[in-house]
Amino acid sequence: MCGYPSVSADNHPVIPALRSESAMNQPVEERPGRQATAAAAMFEPGNWTQTLDLSVMFDFQRTLEIDVGCGKGRFLLARARNNPDVNYIGIDRMVKRLRKLDRKIDRTGLDNVRLLKTEASYAFEELLPPASANAIYTFFPDPWPKRRHHRRRLFCPAFCSALARVLAPRGHLHVSTDHLEYLAEISDLMLANGAFEPVDALTLSEEERTNFEKTFLGLHTEIGRCSFRRMDVARSEQS
Ligand SMILES: C[S@@+](CC[C@H](N)C(=O)[O-])C[C@H]1O[C@@H](n2cnc3c(N)ncnc32)[C@H](O)[C@@H]1O
Repeated sequence: MCGYPSVSADNHPVIPALRSESAMNQPVEERPGRQATAAAAMFEPGNWTQTLDLSVMFDFQRTLEIDVGCGKGRFLLARARNNPDVNYIGIDRMVKRLRKLDRKIDRTGLDNVRLLKTEASYAFEELLPPASANAIYTFFPDPWPKRRHHRRRLFCPAFCSALARVLAPRGHLHVSTDHLEYLAEISDLMLANGAFEPVDALTLSEEERTNFEKTFLGLHTEIGRCSFRRMDVARSEQS
């Protein structure tokens, strides 16, 4: 959705800033913002108006990848399992899906995945640290096919700028969708932003295919993909 998310008190209770210098001296599971069990992946920021502190969020500092609209999490789980040296954040606004996924992560014992229940645009504009992610995945973003609903689409100029803010230089954005008209629009928006260059599109292995990709492949629906690399700041300013 491109319209600014409603960050209501109901959805995102703004808890007073709890983080302090001394927080870093506490065991990870006792640090403000962490759930009681060390394995729980659901992450509730201590303060929804401050940049996320990745050192509080994860037990170990590793490179970061983000799955936007992670849904039931087939891709996120497989990717995290295959890359234990990378931290993953799954973002979705549907709490039921995230809770189910949280239980699955708990069962697998993965320590490199965290789940954030929030609007993606808010996460990228406000919460995620600048230049923090090496890869961002946006698989099957809701296409909102009716023209009068297009303004609800996630991709818009402001979201592309927010992606450019969070992606580290030379980091990648990967998109796939069954809605080819939306794919063309996303591609145009990303190029118009000026901070990205197109690269070969990512194709997922069977093991890492998302839930939606598996469904559409089963229906023999064509799937469109595109990928972009975040240019160095100097290069994106030239273009
Ligand atoms: C079509 S599903 C795709 C799920 C998954 N990526 C896949 O390929 O199987 C889109 C997901 O994105 C989430 N979503 C849609 N718009 C969102 C937004 N603005 N912020 C956060 N999550 C969003 C939905 O709740 C849903 O889980």
